Amino acid sequence: MVERRAEHAVKFFYSHLFWHNPGVRDLFPVSSEDMERQRDRLFAALTHVISRFDDDTIGPYLHDLGRDHRKFLVRPEHYAVVGSSLLAALAATSGSAWTPKVEKAWTEAYQVIADAMLAGADASEDPPWWDAEVVRHLQYGQDIGVLTLRPHAPFPYLPGQYTSVSSERVPRTWRTYSIGNAPRPDGTVDLHVSRIDRGRLSTALVRETQPGDVLRLGAAGGALTFRRSDRPVSLIAAGTGWAPIRALLEELADRPPDQDVRLFVVARDGAHLYDRPLIDAYGTSCGWLDVTYITPAPGRHRNEATERLATALSNRGLWPDQDVYLSGPVQFIDETARLLEELGARPARLFHDVVPSGGRGHDQPDRPLGFGEWFLNRPEPHWLNPSARAPKEY
Ligand code: HEM
Repeated sequence: MVERRAEHAVKFFYSHLFWHNPGVRDLFPVSSEDMERQRDRLFAALTHVISRFDDDTIGPYLHDLGRDHRKFLVRPEHYAVVGSSLLAALAATSGSAWTPKVEKAWTEAYQVIADAMLAGADASEDPPWWDAEVVRHLQYGQDIGVLTLRPHAPFPYLPGQYTSVSSERVPRTWRTYSIGNAPRPDGTVDLHVSRIDRGRLSTALVRETQPGDVLRLGAAGGALTFRRSDRPVSLIAAGTGWAPIRALLEELADRPPDQDVRLFVVARDGAHLYDRPLIDAYGTSCGWLDVTYITPAPGRHRNEATERLATALSNRGLWPDQDVYLSGPVQFIDETARLLEELGARPARLFHDVVPSGGRGHDQPDRPLGFGEWFLNRPEPHWLNPSARAPKEY
């Protein structure tokens, strides 16, 4: 019943929350555009978690979510006020279906969620976020930036994971970006950022951020990490989905594998393979690596890259034996995974950060974050920018 009137429920929820607790508004993004997005995100997450209550993955998810909410400056007492506003919104939207029994069930369910999140926040030994100084900013054309950051404290992550990022330039807005390198001795991390039209944070990161700026990083997350096995490996990347694949490749190069590794790098045209020199160097120096670049024919639409990828994947074969790591825009992952399964790849050996179809991921081109973000309809990410040239260094 509430889903059918979701927009009304969401507006009710936030109006109720901010009217009764004006200070809580300060925790949320300043811009009304970002706030619109957040309306979907938080409320959808609350209702979605409740609807999946019996799922085994919910416990760990809530634990991490609570840990991560510390970076939004959420304090324990906020859980009660969010709970009252949620219940008020549900009551107002459910009409006669809101019986004492239903109210009791929702109250208890919310309490279980809040307790799990609070326990996650309490148990964490990590800081709420990591301050990290920008030490280098490479810009490729108008829309791609690779930022090298030096976290002030050790920042733990595995190759292939992502982090959430926030900048003073767009206060209280957090978006996720993949980390484009395996851990380095100097602790620096590279973020590959693709600018989204009307995406205030991605625009600030690609076009305005400079060395010396300090960004905030949330705890690393994501499951696109390398599974050592004796099976051959295929890595398939599109756009800035190259970032986690590059991190995996660095990990492989560090402990060269016995099996063959095939790398497919897809871009909207040859000028936009922004890391091509590095990929070429890997191709030359690593005997176990076979590199294929996929771009549309000159002057053809970028979708043709996907068609060419389909042809290349069909020609290469041996898919039933492969462990396949996929990274790129959501639609690209969906389509490529489907094709690979048709070609015989085993679904259990196709690794990517999971996105249910029907929902668009988060505001970034790389991959989704949490349940709430599945509900967001964000603009289609850029693959790569047509006017990209040699990197510009600041
Ligand atoms: C109790 C259940 C709650 C659930 C299931 C929930 C869920 C979520 C999810 C999934 C996100 C997006 C995650 C991300 O961007 O990293 C989020 C963001 C956020 N939540 Fe919660 N949340 C809960 C409670 C609260 C409470 C009590 C507050 C305090 C007011 C709060 C404030 C925020 C803020 C400020 C954001 C970030 C806004 C942004 O990035 O635009 N949440 N929440």
